[in-house]
Amino acid sequence: MDKFVSLALAALLLGAKSTFAAPTEATTTACTEIKDALPGKVLTPGLLAAEYMYETQQYWSTTLRTIDPACIVQPDSAQDISIVIKILNKYPSVQFATRSGGHDPNVGHATVEDGVLITMTDLVGATYDAEEDVAYVRPGGDWNDVISDLEQSGVAVSGGRLGIVGVGGLLLGGGLSFLNAQEGMVADNIIEWETVMANGSVVYVDAAANPDLAQAMRGSVGQFGIVTQFKAKVHHMGDVWGGSCTYDETKDEELYAALHDFIPNGPQDPKAAIIFSDLVLAADINTKLIFYFYDAPSPPTTGPFADFLEIPGLSCTTKTQTYSELLKANGAPVGLLNARSLFRTYTVPYIASRPQMYSEIRDQLANITATFLNTLPLIRAIQFSVDFQPLPALFGQISESKGGNAMGLTASDPDRIILIYQGAWNSPEDDELAYELAREITAWLDEVVPVWMEEAGLPPDMYLPLFINDAMFDQPVLQSYREYEKFEALQRSVDPDGLFRTRFGGFKY
Ligand SMILES: Cc1cc2nc3c(=O)[nH]c(=O)nc-3n(C[C@H](O)[C@H](O)[C@H](O)COP(=O)(O)OP(=O)(O)OC[C@H]3O[C@@H](n4cnc5c(N)ncnc54)[C@H](O)[C@@H]3O)c2cc1C
Ligand SMILES: *[C@@H]1O[C@H](CO)[C@@H](O)[C@H](O)[C@H]1NC(C)=O
Ligand SMILES: *[C@@H]1O[C@H](CO)[C@@H](O)[C@H](O)[C@H]1NC(C)=O
Repeated sequence: MDKFVSLALAALLLGAKSTFAAPTEATTTACTEIKDALPGKVLTPGLLAAEYMYETQQYWSTTLRTIDPACIVQPDSAQDISIVIKILNKYPSVQFATRSGGHDPNVGHATVEDGVLITMTDLVGATYDAEEDVAYVRPGGDWNDVISDLEQSGVAVSGGRLGIVGVGGLLLGGGLSFLNAQEGMVADNIIEWETVMANGSVVYVDAAANPDLAQAMRGSVGQFGIVTQFKAKVHHMGDVWGGSCTYDETKDEELYAALHDFIPNGPQDPKAAIIFSDLVLAADINTKLIFYFYDAPSPPTTGPFADFLEIPGLSCTTKTQTYSELLKANGAPVGLLNARSLFRTYTVPYIASRPQMYSEIRDQLANITATFLNTLPLIRAIQFSVDFQPLPALFGQISESKGGNAMGLTASDPDRIILIYQGAWNSPEDDELAYELAREITAWLDEVVPVWMEEAGLPPDMYLPLFINDAMFDQPVLQSYREYEKFEALQRSVDPDGLFRTRFGGFKY
């Protein structure tokens, strides 16, 4: 092949990056050693490295698709990862990361430029064990895979609310689900983790035998090891009712009133769940997208959930269907978003005397992002949104009864709301601006929320931990946990050399 053509082709295959990857010698040597130990399971970049290229594209945020690891390992088992970790222990300067679904938008969490990336591409789906009435769930693929595998047996596991979302990161982060009011946080239902520990041993962390480690693993993501299989309690279910509706601004008042009532009173009917998404688009367009879920073939006709359904939407997809159909349909529109993206989270208390709180939060988001959204060309920023995700006292009651989680939800919890801010934009030149706007939102909340609490007579020291699955890289998520010191000590006891604390992607103890 002509030298120029082959160079151009190489540039194309490498994602047209201006600089070529330059892994250290130690990294290259580690990759070679891993490749020799796991023949056929290690991919490296280069001309016609189609499968390597394919793997680097399997991320939700397009920001992450230009990051090139030195090598990519596709294990089939915990034993394969055990081999990788033992080799990595010989090369203390080599950085590494694990990717399950690739939905975390943060650079350096499930990505590693010039390091070793372990992907869960070949560990996908779930199996039901009828005798024990539990499911074995693998971290790769997405919730569509897991739920369709289990549905034929009439069971599901508590998990993602959109079928396209990744499994491993969500199960290790704690997890919001449509089943939270019946089953607690997603991770509360995990009773055993097949885990490759820092020393390379494969350990079956059993929640009954090791309750402290189990609690720590429910919300610490990758700080205790790489998980290759989850043993989960199941939820027996038949047809469900749900879908989504969109609304224009004329319905704001009614929708915010319904939300304000649903947060404390929704748990009276634990089968009901919502995702309330407030979208801020260019040209001052505000719109709402609400996902509805009811764990029965038809929704109730009275109560806080039914009150939402009285408010006419512009368009609705709600109907009776199987859970797998619902999750597939929920993911479809979101799957079209092809952009750089950020998440940022904040936990606010439910403030009964402040029903205007939701519109204040939405208006401030619109205010802070207005210039970014409305600067020509219009396609510069695509959208920002804030979701109001109820975290009622009930979730904590169930969490505690199931052994507790790292986020520290307990039976004496107040009603709270987890905010997730999302941003979507096109150009790498705008990354810093987008992150800065997200930080501005936090700074504003840090100012106003204590004032709102004081005005409402709420105690200033209310426990408001951050939700790890929705957090931005610079947020002190683990540090917001009440029992941080306990988990930090536990992390150090199983990872004395700091393999996961200093060399691995994600939030750290
Ligand atoms: C469209 C969309 C919808 C979402 N909906 C929900 C929802 O309904 N509920 C909810 O709770 N969250 C939701 N999230 C957030 C989601 O939980 C997180 O993004 C989560 O990280 C996704 O898991 P993943 O497997 O894709 O993680 P990845 O991006 O693959 O990894 C995330 C982190 O987990 C670590 N990790 C991944 N796999 C393993 C493993 N096997 N062992 C150890 N560490 C590992 C990585 O090191 C990384 O730090 C949503 C996100 C998106 C983009
Ligand atoms: C939006 O910003 C303007 C100008 O900075 C300010 O006057 C206004 O009060 C802000 N609105 C809200 C809802 O904070
Ligand atoms: C590896 O670490 C785990 C967790 O601390 C421990 O249980 C196990 O005994 C260790 N294995 C070896 C071979 O040291």
